[in-house]
Amino acid sequence: MNTSSHHFSHVVRHRRSMREFLPQAIPSELIQAVLEDAQQAPSNCNTQPWQVHVVSGAKRDELAMALSAADDAGRFTPDYYFDMTEYPEIYAERARSSAKARYDAIHVTREDKEGRAKAMRQNLNFFGAPHVALLFMPALGDSVRVASDLGMYGQTFLLSLTAHGLAGIPQTLLGMYADTVREVLGIDLDMKMLLGISFGYADRAAAANDITVGRIPVSQSVTFHG
Ligand SMILES: Cc1cc2nc3c(=O)[nH]c(=O)nc-3n(C[C@H](O)[C@H](O)[C@H](O)COP(=O)(O)O)c2cc1C
Repeated sequence: MNTSSHHFSHVVRHRRSMREFLPQAIPSELIQAVLEDAQQAPSNCNTQPWQVHVVSGAKRDELAMALSAADDAGRFTPDYYFDMTEYPEIYAERARSSAKARYDAIHVTREDKEGRAKAMRQNLNFFGAPHVALLFMPALGDSVRVASDLGMYGQTFLLSLTAHGLAGIPQTLLGMYADTVREVLGIDLDMKMLLGISFGYADRAAAANDITVGRIPVSQSVTFHG
């Protein structure tokens, strides 16, 4: 393995979803460098359909409060639904096992409904991160192609954070409050929200960040032909 592929493999494996951040803000030049990297993501016919809203400072706090209020009011307004009960057992089991790793790390038991709800609500405060990027897209057809482009963008963004000594967490949950996000940020209704990525400097000492969820072997995902 040459040095640059070794470095790439290290970045890929070092990237992990962080769920506790230090309060310190990232210098704007560093955020710009991450955005320049993410902009290099591939997309269908180079359409680059991502519209990204980066929220920091007082606006970040305002958004976190609005999300909490929406949650309190039961105001769920997803542009794209997400229903884990539709997942066949093979995937549901992986989801249960990663949730168990998350809750075990912070000593919240399966029966502790209040503890679980509290941990879930941390999503709405961006897990304490000083910045959040909200990924929006135009609604086109069944949206699958455009959403895959945003996925490419999101992973490039996350890997760039890691390569710059930063960290992030992709959050579908934030998309459950799409109307609230649009209202607070003044975004048109025809732009649809797929996910958010909270980011900053990870608190590496935090128990919530001390988890490894692992992956299934390549042989279970890949079939060779020829
Ligand atoms: C598109 C996407 C959405 C996600 N949404 C959430 C979320 O809303 N809340 C959360 O705590 N984790 C969320 N995650 C993080 C996953 O749980 C995490 O990626 C997975 O368990 C693998 O762990 P790792 O990222 O540390 O490798 C999301 C990940 C992806 C890719």
